[in-house]
Amino acid sequence: MKKLIICDHPLIQHKVSLLRDKNTGSKEFRELVNEVSMLIGYEATRDLPLKEVSVETPVAIARTNVISGRKLAIVPILRAGIGMVDGLLALVPAAKVGHIGISRDKRNDNSVSVYYNKLPSDVASRDVILLDLMLATGASAIKAIEAVKQQGVSSVKLITALSCPEGVRAVHDQHPDVDIYTGAMDEGLNDELYITPGIGDGGDRIFGTK
Ligand code: URA
Repeated sequence: MKKLIICDHPLIQHKVSLLRDKNTGSKEFRELVNEVSMLIGYEATRDLPLKEVSVETPVAIARTNVISGRKLAIVPILRAGIGMVDGLLALVPAAKVGHIGISRDKRNDNSVSVYYNKLPSDVASRDVILLDLMLATGASAIKAIEAVKQQGVSSVKLITALSCPEGVRAVHDQHPDVDIYTGAMDEGLNDELYITPGIGDGGDRIFGTK
C-alpha cells in the first residue's frame, strides 16, 4: 500500500537532467521521454509473474521462465502521456493501448473532467499501467485512475517522469493501492501549478506547440 518508487538509476537521472534543460529541443525531448519511460517501465514491470516452461535449445532441454498471468494495458493520459507509449511498448509489445483525456476548467476551481475515454474492451481483465509525464497536483491522475477502475480494472500502476510531493500525496490519499513509479521527485508546485524546478510544459515540449 502507498508504494512510491523513485527510479534513480544513473541513466534515468542523466536523461531527466537533459529533459529539464530549456535548451533541449522537441526532437531530443521526445526521444528522451521515450527512453526515460522505457527505463522506468523496466522497474514497473519487475514484478510481472513468471511461469516455468521447457524450451529445446540447440544443446539440451532448458527449464526456463516466461511471463505469465494477466495481460497489460498501457493507458496514456492525453496529451503528454502519448510521448511515453512507445517506450513501454518496446518492453511489452503485446500490451493493448487505451487513451484518457482529462480537461481542467480554470474558471471552475481547476476542476477536472474526462473528455475522452477509449480503453480496450477487455480492460477489466488486464493490469493497467497509466502514463502521465508529470505528477503535479495529481488531479488528472486521480480522475484517470477513477475512470479505469470504473471499467472494472483492479490493478493500476502509475508511471511519471517527474513528480512532486503534493501530487504523490493526493493520488495516494484517494488511491493507496496505486503504485507510483517516477524518475525524480521535485520540490513542489509554483503558483501556476507547474512543478518546480520541473521541465516546463511537457506537452508543449513534446509536440513543439510553444
Ligand atoms: N504539467 C506540465 O506539463 N508541467 C508541469 O510542471 C505540471 C503539469
